[in-house]
Amino acid sequence: MNALKRCWCRIFQGAFRLAIPLLPYRRPEQLPDVASLPGRLADRGCGSVLVVTSPSVANMPGTRRLLDALAAAGISCAVYSKTIPNPTTDTVEEALALYRSGNCQAIIGIGGGSSLDCAKAVGVRAVLPHKPLSKLGGVLKVRRPLPPLAAVPTTAGTGSETTIAAVITDAVTRDKYAISDFPLIPGYAVLDPEMTLSLPPRLTASTGMDALTHAVEAFIGRSTTPDTREDALAAVELIFANLERAYQNGSDLDARRNLLTASFRAGCAFTKSYVGYIHAVAHSLGGAYNVAHGHANAVILPVVLRAYGPAVHSQLARLAQAAGLARPGAGEQEAASAFIGGVEALNARCGIGAAIPELRPQDIPALARRADREANPLYPVPVLMDAQELEQIYRRLLPR
Ligand SMILES: [Fe+2]
Repeated sequence: MNALKRCWCRIFQGAFRLAIPLLPYRRPEQLPDVASLPGRLADRGCGSVLVVTSPSVANMPGTRRLLDALAAAGISCAVYSKTIPNPTTDTVEEALALYRSGNCQAIIGIGGGSSLDCAKAVGVRAVLPHKPLSKLGGVLKVRRPLPPLAAVPTTAGTGSETTIAAVITDAVTRDKYAISDFPLIPGYAVLDPEMTLSLPPRLTASTGMDALTHAVEAFIGRSTTPDTREDALAAVELIFANLERAYQNGSDLDARRNLLTASFRAGCAFTKSYVGYIHAVAHSLGGAYNVAHGHANAVILPVVLRAYGPAVHSQLARLAQAAGLARPGAGEQEAASAFIGGVEALNARCGIGAAIPELRPQDIPALARRADREANPLYPVPVLMDAQELEQIYRRLLPR
């Protein structure tokens, strides 16, 4: 990267870092199971809620349990169960109509990132009835409290239950954009392991590696704070101790619970301290070939960590200790490589390969330009790379 662009990136990131303590980040209240939620909503005077979910999640036993608990608490319930992957503005409007006709006072999102994002967007539209979502893409455009919002994740990875963003696709133009503002942080994150029991091993692995990538990128970036470092270290420790267990035995409730906590804490870390080039490259591969986000992150993670070189050795050595991968008395360089090797070994044990078979060499320059546009200057990465340097990362992802 040339000196001028390098300088601009670091000034931009420095300004954001200085602003972190001034911004109104909140940590959602964590609830251990769905049965705890109705009481919290009743305490806030909510007599009717909208549940936003997808067709498959609507029929899960955990969802039935929540609906029964709401009824027992005297809270009436409208259920929108047609959320699709990559929810559109039409999806949100349909759910909003149900929110209005049911005179709802609170929203519960149950599902992976798509249902949680849809629930957040319904909340935005409920308080800004005259503003279409297309006018709210970007940062800090909502500026109004949302109705009480609870997030019930059914995967342990996206961290959407803690973040300020909802990603929505325009139903007409197919533009995909993020609405990012502090009121979108849910008030409650229900970390109920029974809600993740039906997740198949492949998705357990890829979503867990997404959470690991959130923690690692937040930890090695230049915008960390003491609390995001603590969250990231705890998440890394929990993922290394529990991901393979949950992958091997999907009904291991203890491992499932620990992964939900890891995902939540990794979400708290990256929503303040950002992600980096691993996510930028993964997003470009998701857009071009529909490669699952967590899977792409898992494959890219060791490649980018190696490319960063000595600049991240001390941070990776700390992560290696947290993950139990460093030999006692190991130096920084040795411990850092133990961490990268540990990520590759975890991938292999969870059935994740070391390449992206969909990637075509002729697409690499355009993909690298896209990752460059996403990451620079926003992401406070430990080592700056321009599009040409990022091309080297993509080449290492080609099947051999
Ligand atoms: Fe992610």
